[in-house]
Order: sequence, then structure tokens, then C-alpha cells
Amino acid sequence: MELTREQVMVIKKTWAIFRDMEPRLVCDVFYGKLFYDNPPLRKLFPAEMDEQYAKLINMLNRVVARLDQLDSMTAELQAMGKRHAAYGVRRELYGPVGIALLWTLQQGLGADWNNETKLAWQTCYAKIATIMQEAAQTP
Ligand code: HEM
Repeated sequence: MELTREQVMVIKKTWAIFRDMEPRLVCDVFYGKLFYDNPPLRKLFPAEMDEQYAKLINMLNRVVARLDQLDSMTAELQAMGKRHAAYGVRRELYGPVGIALLWTLQQGLGADWNNETKLAWQTCYAKIATIMQEAAQTP
């Protein structure tokens, strides 16, 4: 499913709200939710999560900045998908991660969260996840 121009705007607008929040806090909420709901996933990640926090936020910053030209990031996302396979990330783990991400956005956005926002982020995550998953499947 393609992102509409309205969805691109919704994502950029809501991500701008997140960028004003303390990245540590956003990541604590995200990984807290992910590991609380899926305890076995904790062991895939390093004990010390600080660097992971920065990498995730940076990556999301870059994706959101280039949403209207995501094709320019395909090669990069494919390489990331292959690295994730090497970390032990299987296809079915993208679902739980997407749920934790959407939940985090919902908590942070409060009254700005609605069906439109949800659908926009869902579509965006699905696009990225599909590119990563497909790359992980090809040798
Ligand atoms: C849109 C989806 C995702 C994005 C944007 C993303 C982003 C990142 C980034 C930027 C890194 C840093 C290392 C690298 O670039 O290779 C990373 C590492 C990692 N991610 Fe993801 N990720 C996604 C999905 C997932 C999923 C579904 C899992 C499953 C649990 C996962 C688990 C991990 C693990 C285990 C590491 C390595 C930590 C380490 O050993 O240093 N990621 N991710």
C-alpha cells in the first residue's frame, strides 16, 4: 500500500512532536512495551541499550525525512533487513515490533492520535518492514 500525500504529512507532523521529547524516554517506553509483551525478545538485544536507542531514533528520523522519496532508501533498508536476519530477527517478529511502535506513538501523541494517524503509521511501518523482510529472504 502506498502512502498518500496526506499520510506523509500526518507522519511528518506527528514525528515532529516526538522529536521534541527526550529520545531516552521515547525509547524506554518503546522497548519497555516490546519486552513486557514479548519477554523472549530481550535476549536478542545487547545488555546496554543506549546505543540502540540512538540508532533507532536516527533511523526513524531519516526515514521520516525521506518519506516522499522512500525509493531512495530501498538499498539501505534492504541491507538493514539482511543485518536483522543475522541478529536472529525472523519474519514474524516484525508484527510485535510494529505493535510496540504504534503503541508508543499513541501514548506520546495523546489527543493527536486518531484513526488517520494510526493508518498512516501502520502503512509506513508495513512498507519498511516489507522491504526488510523480503531482503532477508533473498540470498
Ligand atoms: C522498521 C523496522 C525496524 C527498524 C527501522 C529497525 C532499526 C534498527 C537499527 C537502525 C539498528 C542498528 C543496527 C543496524 O542498522 O543494523 C537495529 C538493530 C537491531 N534491531 Fe532493529 N529495526 C527494525 C525492526 C526490528 C525487528 C522487527 C526486530 C525484532 C526483534 C529488531 C531487532 C533488532 C536487533 C536485535 C538489533 C541488533 C542489536 C545489537 O545487537 O546491537 N529490529 N534495528
